[in-house]
Amino acid sequence: MQKTALSLIFLSSLPAIIQVDAVLAAGSEKRWYSTHQITQGKRLYTEHCAKCHGENAEATPDWRKSDANGVYPPPPLNGTAHAWHHPLPQLRLTIRHGGARFGGKMPPFDDILSTTEVDSIIAWFQSLWSDETYHRWATGGASQISKPGQLR
Ligand code: HEC
Repeated sequence: MQKTALSLIFLSSLPAIIQVDAVLAAGSEKRWYSTHQITQGKRLYTEHCAKCHGENAEATPDWRKSDANGVYPPPPLNGTAHAWHHPLPQLRLTIRHGGARFGGKMPPFDDILSTTEVDSIIAWFQSLWSDETYHRWATGGASQISKPGQLR
């Protein structure tokens, strides 16, 4: 009985999977955020994050290399570095609590930005990600690699 129910669920989800593939092929995966969030996020990002992560979230290309004191530079958030490995809750935590938890240098934003504002900033930098990167993030390439506390 249970088995039949499970197969039914599986079978009924097949068309959805095929549909997602079709959408991806067309290069227009549905993303979780709105254009309003992107606009708000861009403004907040410029104000609070750009000085370290770069005007277009491109800093620092050599993000894997620590300095003489073992300190890592701010990584790009534009999809070329590591941010896509982190599921949404973890991205939110990093921004709210900063890098101190991992011996990092990023300041916390908990007292400065609301949760809505943090989400808008994530929306903005994710809007820079290619469909391929976004898809890898959205389909749990992220959750498999990422452990709490792991930054790179
Ligand atoms: C004073 C410089 C500085 C500012 C300002 C700053 N960051 Fe960072 N950020 C860093 C550094 C350095 C790291 C690498 C980890 C660490 O040392 O804490 C980092 C890491 C991150 C990560 C993890 C990326 C990854 O690949 O794992 C995210 C996400 C992030 N920052 C987002 C933001 C956002 C959003 C803002 C603005 C609200 C911001 N940062 C402001 C310096 C900064």
